[in-house]
Amino acid sequence: MNTEGLTSQQQTPEDKERQVYLQKSGAIPRHIAVIMDGNGRWAKSRGSVRIIGHKAGVDSVKDIVEACGQLGVSHLTLYAFSTENWGRPKGEVSALMKLLVQSLRSETRKLHENDIRLTSIGETDRLPPTCRRELEEAIALTADNKHMELCLALSYSGRWDICQAVSRISQKVKDGVLCPEEINNDIIADHLATAEIPDPDLIVRTSGEFRLSNFLLWQSAYSELYVTNTYWPDFRRDQLYEAIASYQKRERRYGKVPAHLELEESTVAMR
Ligand code: FPP
Repeated sequence: MNTEGLTSQQQTPEDKERQVYLQKSGAIPRHIAVIMDGNGRWAKSRGSVRIIGHKAGVDSVKDIVEACGQLGVSHLTLYAFSTENWGRPKGEVSALMKLLVQSLRSETRKLHENDIRLTSIGETDRLPPTCRRELEEAIALTADNKHMELCLALSYSGRWDICQAVSRISQKVKDGVLCPEEINNDIIADHLATAEIPDPDLIVRTSGEFRLSNFLLWQSAYSELYVTNTYWPDFRRDQLYEAIASYQKRERRYGKVPAHLELEESTVAMR
């Protein structure tokens, strides 16, 4: 990976050291998904308007993308605009769309230089034409990149995703290419917008709210959740490292018993 990175600042030796320590101390999550929350409260706490919080949030996006790339995270999904966000005041929606266009214009080249593939999930045909065009161009330019996938959830909601999957599956049943009895977890997962992406290992939510807010509802079945009180504009790589360190202490059991208990049980059974 290009060490210049997205923030165009040299990585400090201390930061490199922290990353190496994390890499040695446990597994780096393959897929991290982030609910970026608290931009408005961050701005309010400074006596500023909400859009200032969103602008500061873009700097966090750049730092987190860069740090994930350096750490070896393969997939990073950011909840940038939910289906429900269309209900915000017109001025805020258009300011967010403008920010997205500006960010795509200024960052796509750096994403490409860093071998990062940009993708999106959501009802992107609802986005304004300029936004859609910038997004499509960035996706096309970076399509063959391999180092990391940066997926932007735009006009996305988990329920929308499940509805569109059910609708496409129903059409296949109607067309006779699929039997209802064949519908299982894999079939559903293959029809979700995230079909090409593994389920998130770690979901981070900033600003202290303990909810998923309609994000990756199906895909989060066994994700580890990490909630921090930090507002998104203050969430930078050091906070990300804390989230990963917390993840590394978790035991992922997927509904089964812990590995050491399984061993004890089989020893007892053999006696
Ligand atoms: C939630 O904070 C944040 C959003 C709805 C938008 C996130 C967008 C960005 C960080 C900027 C653009 C993104 C990219 C990928 C370039 P909030 O407004 O709900 O904050 P509040 O809960 O404090 O009101």
